[in-house]
Amino acid sequence: MDYKIYEDIISQRMKAARFRHSKNVAKEAIRLAKKYGADPDKAELAGILHDATKETEADEQMKLIAKAGIQLSTLELESPKLWHAISGSAFVQVELGIEDQEVIDAIRYHTTGRAGMTLLDKVIFIADFISADRDYEGVDRMRKIAEKSLDDAVLEGMAFTIADLAERKLTIAPDTFAGYNEFAAMKARTKK
Ligand SMILES: [Fe+2]
Ligand SMILES: [Fe+2]
Repeated sequence: MDYKIYEDIISQRMKAARFRHSKNVAKEAIRLAKKYGADPDKAELAGILHDATKETEADEQMKLIAKAGIQLSTLELESPKLWHAISGSAFVQVELGIEDQEVIDAIRYHTTGRAGMTLLDKVIFIADFISADRDYEGVDRMRKIAEKSLDDAVLEGMAFTIADLAERKLTIAPDTFAGYNEFAAMKARTKK
């Protein structure tokens, strides 16, 4: 399927604002991919698809997850904020027939990150943080870091996520901790 068809499918699954966000993430993902040596086509595809199920009913998301053969942990089951990334990765496999594991994983880990992130994982994780429509406090700082080092930006993003969730007394995915520890340890080593 070509990109335009995927874009049309996505546009019909969400409100205009989220579709705009998806297009912005795809655009930013291409830019970051070119800058850091990832595949721009995969980046664009994962970018436009990353929030595919963000406006999908919970029971529908659960069906997609089951169809893709994904087993949720207890924590994941109890954390609705984590569902759309997982069900999104299920949707692109089950409904769109996408088999590219790099694209599937980049969607699945776009909110949590994980240990051993691929270059494409990092590109989508950061594109979602700094896409043109983002205007949270600290986005300028994040954009500056992303220009200098993709790894530093991912570490910053994970630290931001963990602090924000802890502040609100919400659960934090083990994948986020695992990713954070990996990048923080790497950073500590390079400082020595
Ligand atoms: Fe998302
Ligand atoms: Fe997003």
